[in-house]
Amino acid sequence: MRKRAIITSALPYANGEIHLGHVASTYLPADVTTRFLKMNDVEAYYICASDDFGTPIMIQSEKEKKTPQEYVAHWNKRDYDDFTAFDIGFDFFYRTSSQENIEFVRYVFNNLVKNDHIYKSEIIQFYCKNDNKFLPDRYVTGTCPYCKADDQYSDLCEKCGRVPEEIENPKCAICGAVPVKEKTIHYFFKLKNFGDALYKWLDENQNLQKDVKKYVQNWITSGLVDWDITRDISWGVPVPGDESKVFYGWFDNHLAYISTAVKFLNDKGIDGKEFWNSADIYHFIGKDIVYHHYLFLPAMRLGIDQEYKLPDFIPTRGHLTLQSKKISKSRNWYIGLKEFLEFYPADYLRFYLVSINPYSQDDLNFDWDDFAVRINSELIGNLGNLVNRALGFTKKTFDGIIPSPDDYDDKDRDAEAKIMSLASELSVLMSQTILIAH
Ligand code: MF3
Ligand code: ZN
Repeated sequence: MRKRAIITSALPYANGEIHLGHVASTYLPADVTTRFLKMNDVEAYYICASDDFGTPIMIQSEKEKKTPQEYVAHWNKRDYDDFTAFDIGFDFFYRTSSQENIEFVRYVFNNLVKNDHIYKSEIIQFYCKNDNKFLPDRYVTGTCPYCKADDQYSDLCEKCGRVPEEIENPKCAICGAVPVKEKTIHYFFKLKNFGDALYKWLDENQNLQKDVKKYVQNWITSGLVDWDITRDISWGVPVPGDESKVFYGWFDNHLAYISTAVKFLNDKGIDGKEFWNSADIYHFIGKDIVYHHYLFLPAMRLGIDQEYKLPDFIPTRGHLTLQSKKISKSRNWYIGLKEFLEFYPADYLRFYLVSINPYSQDDLNFDWDDFAVRINSELIGNLGNLVNRALGFTKKTFDGIIPSPDDYDDKDRDAEAKIMSLASELSVLMSQTILIAH
């Protein structure tokens, strides 16, 4: 373990409220880890930001008759407030649409161009004649070309986790019409160039979760495809030299891990780049964005000659189910963090979610009965009771002032040893969950 660490969690899209699924898989584990590292004298900073760009956000802001800037500013604040109410202790929460990030994204792109990792290509894109729009990403649904799952978004198959090259049986996600194909020029990142280097990096990094590594290496072996990194919309980071196009959100968002950390550190008078490159880098994510964090992100850092080092840890968690059913905002099957905290203290939820969280990408389940039992018997019955009795006794017997002890007798020494060994046992277990990935 290095004496410095930067911890990030997947950046929340600035288009909706944080719910229990988000905090269970990504924010709480990262928060607990950061606290643990800080207690162990690691100079650790927990960095996050709202993920502001992209087609869904642009379309949603249009619907609500707001500018995209106003729209994301609203969610940036709301998300931050909800996290804070849940005691998530970010050292800094910023946004992907910050000036620092925009400049950094353009800088990275220019360096990728210099290193010959970018090319332009005319592509055929789906276009909806009803809506008069190019239809990128989530705006087309259809059948996954790899696993044949129906009703998948064109930018990510939720069944097999891959990013389809071209979705089959396409439909416009706004109006349902079958889209036509139109020509446009897009920029591509030569992901194919990085297959061997990525494979090697995965092999050599012992801190990455073995279960995830295996299937990412299978993806590499079965062949990577170059990555389309631009979009014909107005809300995004403008492409240097071709300002009418913007970058795809997944090109710019993870770069905000770096630009945000560096801004925060530089503002503190610390050399941000030097710190980044001498720290352990943790990116906490949910398993739906493995492709982006184990392939795109490291490939881009390799593509700029590792000016900023690759991650050491990418803790990857499963999804939270609610009463054993998949969480779905559109089907209204979810619990908003804000609403939950109107009924229960943050520590109830933190305790429960930590206690059911496996250190793997297996799913975890929120169950109301189980929640009640664990809070009543473990948190309140065991821990709360102990504290309450000890404090009550101190108040009654010693007027609320803890007396200084006489010389320890055997029983005292015994109790002290137990307390000390509990702390070090816990510490060993915590380090294991961080260091020995499954
Ligand atoms: N906003 C994305 C999501 O919720 C996560 C972005 S993580 C980043 O799936 F690093 F890439 F920014
Ligand atoms: Zn699929």
